[in-house]
Amino acid sequence: MEFTNESEKQQYYMEQCRQLIQAKEQKLGRKLTACVVTFGCQMNFKDSEKLLGILKQIGYEETDDEHADLVLYNTCTVRENANLKIYGRLGYLHKIKDKNPEMIIGLCGCMMQEPHVVEKLNKSYRFIDLIFGTHNVFILAELLYERLLTGHKVESIWDGTTEIVEDLPSIRKYDFKCGVNIMFGCNNFCTYCIVPYVRGRERSRDPEEIIKEIEALAADGVVEVMLLGQNVNSYGKTLEHPISFAELLRRVEQVEGVERIRFMTSHPKDLSDELIEVMAQSKKICKQMHLPLQSGSSRLLDRMNRHYTKEDYLLIVEKLRKAIPDIGLTTDIIVGFPGETEEDFEETLDVVSKVRYDSAFTFIYSKRSGTPAAEMENQVPESVIKERFDRLLKLINSISKEKTAVLEGTTQPVLVEEKNGKLEGYVSGRLSNNSVVHFPGCEQLIGKIVSVNLKEAKGFYYMGEMVE
Ligand code: 5AD
Ligand code: SF4
Repeated sequence: MEFTNESEKQQYYMEQCRQLIQAKEQKLGRKLTACVVTFGCQMNFKDSEKLLGILKQIGYEETDDEHADLVLYNTCTVRENANLKIYGRLGYLHKIKDKNPEMIIGLCGCMMQEPHVVEKLNKSYRFIDLIFGTHNVFILAELLYERLLTGHKVESIWDGTTEIVEDLPSIRKYDFKCGVNIMFGCNNFCTYCIVPYVRGRERSRDPEEIIKEIEALAADGVVEVMLLGQNVNSYGKTLEHPISFAELLRRVEQVEGVERIRFMTSHPKDLSDELIEVMAQSKKICKQMHLPLQSGSSRLLDRMNRHYTKEDYLLIVEKLRKAIPDIGLTTDIIVGFPGETEEDFEETLDVVSKVRYDSAFTFIYSKRSGTPAAEMENQVPESVIKERFDRLLKLINSISKEKTAVLEGTTQPVLVEEKNGKLEGYVSGRLSNNSVVHFPGCEQLIGKIVSVNLKEAKGFYYMGEMVE
C-alpha cells in the first residue's frame, strides 16, 4: 500500500482492525472493551487520550475495569517507585488473563524506552502481547493489527523520532478542559532525570497546528486549555520560523471561546521577561505557575545541571510577584540528591520560606540507571533523607495552610469540574490559582465558570457557596 502521509496510513490500519474487531464481536455476541491505565504525568495522560481515541475508532468500548478484552498500561519511569508499581500490577493482570486467554495486554510509555525493562518483561512476563514506546504511540493500530492477525507478541520500540503526526483521533476525559501538546521531549539533561533518554530530543509543534487544534476544541465546548511540554519556556526555538512561548500564548489568547489558559512545566532558566509581561496583561492566562526548584542550594543546582542559582530563582519569583501579585506558585523539590549536605538542605528550606509556595511536590531522590547522578559519589543515606523529607513537608504544609487562608471570605471565579464524590449535592471546581473549592451545586454547572464565595479555608482547599 502507498500512503501520502503517516496519518493516512494509520487510518488504513484502524479500518483493518475495525473489521477484525467487528468479526470478533459477532462471534462473541457482545462488544469488545478496552481499558487504558495511565501512570505518571500530564504528558502520559495526553498520550492515553490519543491511544483511547484510536481504540474507540477501531470499535472498542472504553471501560475502567481491567477485566477487559484489551488492557493497555501507559507507564512512567521517572522514579523507581513508578516501575515497581507496574511490576506489581502485572501480576494481577496475569491472573485475569489466565481466566480469559483471548485478552490482549499491552505496555507502552516511558518504561518501555529502557532496554533492561523490555528484557525483563520478555524473560519473566511472557504473557504480554504488545510492547511499544513513547515515540510511536500513533502506530498503535498498525501494531494491534499485526497482533490480531498473527496472534504473536508484537514489540516495537523506536530510539527517537523527528516526526510529529497530526490529525489522529483523540478522546477527551473532560468535555470542558483539555491538554494540548505544544512540544515533545527534553534537551536539558538534568543529571538526575531519565526523561530526556526516554522521551527524546525537544521538538516543538507548529504554532498553526496548535492554534487549529485549540480552535476546534473551543468550537467543541472546551473553555480551559493546558499547554503541555517538559519545558514550555523553550517552546519554538527550534522551529523553522522560531517564535517564543510568550508569542504563542498571545495567539492562544485570541482564540474565541477559550476562557482559561494554563501551561506546564516551566523551567526557571528559560523564563523570560516577555512571558511575565504577557501573563500580567492577559485576561485568560491563569494566575498560576509551576516552577520546579529541585534544590535551593546553588552548589547542588550546578551538580543537577539546572543552569540557575538560588539567587536567580528568587529574582524570578520577585519579578513574577511584582507583575502578578496574586499569582499562585507551586514547585517540585528533590530531597537527597547525591552529596546533599545539611547546609544544602537548609538552603532549600530557606527558599521555601522565602517563596511561600501555595503547594509543592516533594520527591525522595531516586537513582535512575543511565543518568549521570546515578554514578555520583556520596549518595545520601536513607535515614537522613527521610528525616529531611519530613522537615520539608512540615514547613511546606504549614505555609500552604496560611496561604490558603488568605483568600478566605473572598469571592472568586471558579470553573466547575465535577460532581463531588463524597458530599451529596456538592460540586468541585478550581480557582484561577488552581486551588480547589467544594460548594453546593448541581451537575448542570459542570464546565461553567461561576462566582463562588470562599466561606472557609480548610488547609488545602475551600468550602464555598455560589453567588448569584
Ligand atoms: N528522583 C526524584 N525525583 C525526580 N524527578 C525527576 N527525576 C527524579 C529522580 N530521579 C522529579 C523532579 C521533576 C518531577 C517531575 O520529578 O522534581 O520536576
Ligand atoms: Fe527532566 Fe530536567 Fe527535562 Fe524536567 S527539565 S524533564 S527535570 S531533564
